[in-house]
Amino acid sequence: MNRRIEPPPIPFIDVAAQRRRLGSAIDAAVARVLDHCQFILGPEVAAFENELADFCGARHAIACASGTDALTLALRAKGVGPGDAVFCPSFTFCATAEVAALVGATPVFVDVREDTFNIDPDGLKVAVATARRLGLTPKAVIPVDLFGLPADHDAVASIAEDESLIVLDDAAQAFGASIDGHKLGSFGDLTATSFFPAKPLGCYGDGGAVLTDDDDTAATLRSLRVHGQGSDKYDNVRIGLASRLDTIQAAVLREKLKIFPEEIEARNAAARRYADALGNLVTVPRTPEGFVSVWAQYTIRLPNGRREAFAASLRAEGVPTAIYYPIPLHRQHAYKHYPVGDGGMAVSERLAAEVISLPMHAYLDEATQDRIVDATRRALAR
Ligand SMILES: Cc1ncc(COP(=O)(O)O)c(C=O)c1O
Repeated sequence: MNRRIEPPPIPFIDVAAQRRRLGSAIDAAVARVLDHCQFILGPEVAAFENELADFCGARHAIACASGTDALTLALRAKGVGPGDAVFCPSFTFCATAEVAALVGATPVFVDVREDTFNIDPDGLKVAVATARRLGLTPKAVIPVDLFGLPADHDAVASIAEDESLIVLDDAAQAFGASIDGHKLGSFGDLTATSFFPAKPLGCYGDGGAVLTDDDDTAATLRSLRVHGQGSDKYDNVRIGLASRLDTIQAAVLREKLKIFPEEIEARNAAARRYADALGNLVTVPRTPEGFVSVWAQYTIRLPNGRREAFAASLRAEGVPTAIYYPIPLHRQHAYKHYPVGDGGMAVSERLAAEVISLPMHAYLDEATQDRIVDATRRALAR
């Protein structure tokens, strides 16, 4: 009998490939924690915080329980609350706006740029005026470094200075990325990142961190993550959270950080191969001069209406795709009553209808990538 052998399905993000590479180093690091039993704020947490801060050139890293908590802690540390407007892009993961609402402030949505998918500085200016007209105090902006690409931090910083806005960079998808050699973590007043397993630097559970150069803000963040502690945890000087990074996760992350620069290189090599193979067939992402992405996603654009058939065609060949994000936040049930900058969110709406992401990770070998490219070419030709 002549049975056709189907190629195995391709993972969208291959967490297991990295696990195979790092296996014994991580096993040993976790075993050390199991031996010393300091599961909460053990020595690996402080060591990891120092290494993380060094890696990105920030003065302080404060590890916490998730990227969402990192954003929340940052807004709390800066006293953002009721009556304040927090500007954030509409085309992002919900956590960016969620944290503004959670601290009692008002998220005000800003449209994104067609070429980078990141916050539009002109839209930010417009949204500041919108917020004032609505009687809100413009207080903070959360530029998101979407899909691994830094936002236009220079432009955001100059508007923030004019308008006295706190800049909280949401680098959940982009830790390790840089502009002109300066890594994220060194832009804005504070940076929040996530170690969710699928992120470029992910752990084996939930985790996050806040980065800042400001000593007082760092001290407040350290207090906030342990119930607002003062001289010790039974001295409570502010209302805080229980939001620490587990020692086991810090041990895992220390091992992963060692190979992270190599992984960033590998992701960029894969992105270049995608761009070379597909750039003349479909709209592929472009990185502005001097910007380095960490390619949390490799996201292409298809003419509106072609996406479902395209995804089905790839699925039939064992190639997974994902849509980040099918509904912009200003259209979501939980967020649609919040203000949008005057002029609307046309780009966010267009992107939500047209984007689709292809498999991307640091262990995407050339043969597998060729399979994805061939399947993509066939799907586009249909
Ligand atoms: C842009 C963005 N912000 C914040 C978060 C929240 O991170 P976490 O899932 O660690 O809470 C994510 C995670 O998906 C994200 O993509």
